[in-house]
Amino acid sequence: MEKKDLIERINNLRKEKNAIILAHYYQDADIQNIADYVGDSLALAQWATKTTADIIVLCGVHFMGETAKILSPTKKVLIPDVDASCSLAESCPADEFEKFTKSYPDHTVVSYVNTTAAVKALTDIVVTSTNAKHVIDSLPQDEKIIFGPDKNLGDYINKQTGRNMLLWDGACHVHEQFSLEKILELQADHPDALLLAHPECRKYILEIADHVGSTSSIIKFATESDNNKFIVATEAGILHQMRMDNPDKEFIPAPPEDSTCACNDCFYMKMNTLEKLYLCLKNETPEIVVDEELRVKAVRPIEKMLEISAKHGL
Ligand code: 13P
Ligand code: SF4
Repeated sequence: MEKKDLIERINNLRKEKNAIILAHYYQDADIQNIADYVGDSLALAQWATKTTADIIVLCGVHFMGETAKILSPTKKVLIPDVDASCSLAESCPADEFEKFTKSYPDHTVVSYVNTTAAVKALTDIVVTSTNAKHVIDSLPQDEKIIFGPDKNLGDYINKQTGRNMLLWDGACHVHEQFSLEKILELQADHPDALLLAHPECRKYILEIADHVGSTSSIIKFATESDNNKFIVATEAGILHQMRMDNPDKEFIPAPPEDSTCACNDCFYMKMNTLEKLYLCLKNETPEIVVDEELRVKAVRPIEKMLEISAKHGL
């Protein structure tokens, strides 16, 4: 089907079914353009709690749809491709994470939102990259903490907060790929460019970055900055919003180690297409289903995170 027909059908279906389309900044431009809201992981969770729609179509990865369903259990939550996972969620199986947490029974368990519902159910407080520092700062300075699954974000937050959290050994396949050598070459070629990096990047990239932050924070920084050129070390989908908001600024994607592959595209995020979005709205499948007993355990640490975020105006 042609793109314009798909767009027309999606628009008719969302009206007919009182559906809302939420998309993450890493989605294809076509999906971002048709979404009711585009945001980071925290904003997607917040919209899921606020919407009066009957159906939420979450154009992102599975944990984002699952988080929306955990927070809004009476709504139907759909995802264009149910196999759109996340390498961080994959790196942290609930049974292994439970063993890890049980070996440190006096530790508070903090988990990144990029986890399954089963891992969230083992967690005391969830964080996203937007609020991780605020959440950790809200805990007493001498509290012993386990942080999983992203070791790069965990290490960065340890430095930001002066903590010594125990880190799970997980990482994101996209953010681990950025090449220090190639970024240094780019900086030499563009001495006027600022380097913007997501905290899932390796330590040596974060150390040379001019700004480290979540997807929304990277976009805000570039928009508010007087600078006109930026090297962007995160998933390439974000460039669409950055260029739309700042048509006169230049954004250069940071190169991955292996330049023969599209490693700075998240394989999982890019599984969603306009066609799958149309089919999912039409057939109301794949639907995210979360067992109620599990949901009740998983919702508590997410709500704690939302409370702390609200206190800080996030
Ligand atoms: P944000 O919460 O910063 O949007 O990050 C989500 C993510 O998956 C980063 O890889
Ligand atoms: Fe997960 Fe990495 Fe994709 Fe983000 S970019 S959804 S962390 S695999």
